[in-house]
Amino acid sequence: MDDIASIRSRYLEQVAQADSPDALESVRLAALGKKGEISLKMRELGKMTPEERQQAGPALNALKTEIDAALRARKAALEDAALDERLKGEWLDVTLPARPRRMGTIHPVSQVMDELTAIFADMGFSVAEGPQVESDWYNFDALNIPPEHPARQEHDTFFMHRREGDNTPPHVLRTHTSPVQIRAMQDQGAPLRVIAPGRVYRMDMDQTHTPMFHQVEGLAIDRDISMANLKWTLEEFCRAFFEVDHVELRFRASHFPFTEPSAEVDIRCSWQGGQLKIGEGDDWMEILGSGMVHPKVLQAGGIDPNEWQGFAFGVGIDRIAMLKYGIPDLRTFFEGDLRWLRHYGFSALSVPTLAGGLSG
Ligand code: PHE
Repeated sequence: MDDIASIRSRYLEQVAQADSPDALESVRLAALGKKGEISLKMRELGKMTPEERQQAGPALNALKTEIDAALRARKAALEDAALDERLKGEWLDVTLPARPRRMGTIHPVSQVMDELTAIFADMGFSVAEGPQVESDWYNFDALNIPPEHPARQEHDTFFMHRREGDNTPPHVLRTHTSPVQIRAMQDQGAPLRVIAPGRVYRMDMDQTHTPMFHQVEGLAIDRDISMANLKWTLEEFCRAFFEVDHVELRFRASHFPFTEPSAEVDIRCSWQGGQLKIGEGDDWMEILGSGMVHPKVLQAGGIDPNEWQGFAFGVGIDRIAMLKYGIPDLRTFFEGDLRWLRHYGFSALSVPTLAGGLSG
């Protein structure tokens, strides 16, 4: 059939020449669409004689299959070409270095906690912990501060809510880390050597006070621990922590209900030009309270005061961070200002050790 041969070559030609998906679709409709030329031809098969149909039927079917295959092949070729074109324009150099991203920093308080943990670990102290919401007993009574004691007023305590009708003493946000002394004694007994760093809370706010701040408690209990051991331990700590030869400490006789005798310790510093410096100047900054553990406190912790004695101290962590790193205002510690954190923060990769240097 000439007819079929010419239809075939015409459409194959058109398919080969179609240069876009739209053009190709027009060719498909013209040939194989509902009203396409080949479709119409197939419809005519019905009017043919059986002999004619026997010839024309397979020929038309073959034609339809061939044109369809040609359309598909051309479509795939056009898509490949389009993709190649895109790839030429939109390439990416995967060997380029990544864009720099700012890394977070370690907060000075966390850094200092790591530093002092390393120093005290070297002196045989392990780390103890206690809850920040503490019972009245642990925060006060067990530390020899009975309900009417004036020291309770000095603590500017935050109290927790009580259920209505509940007349037991309310829980408190611990006002110092000293309750961890009691918990450590109960948990571990004597002899004992622990530090307890953590958050404490008091209603107070100025350049050197914030309602939440940090302390580290120290407690050493053995058969013959004395005030001399306390003094050596604190001086040794300050020398290692401040990494300077000249740290001057001043021990002032003081009073705490949970120690007897008691001493407050100040460190020599200067505030000149808003810059805080240690080891020089005419100012003293109080950094800790300390003393020999009161027998009643040992008893509350389940330790026999006739057999054991020890020293305890509580250091303001934020205070010594301010001193070591020359940060003049405590309030800025807790404002979460990224510029401040980038300035005073520490690299996450420099973990302090006594041997490798503390300040990283
Ligand atoms: N707990 C005291 C305070 O908050 C500090 C202290 C601890 C004093 C241990 C003596 C012994 O100030």
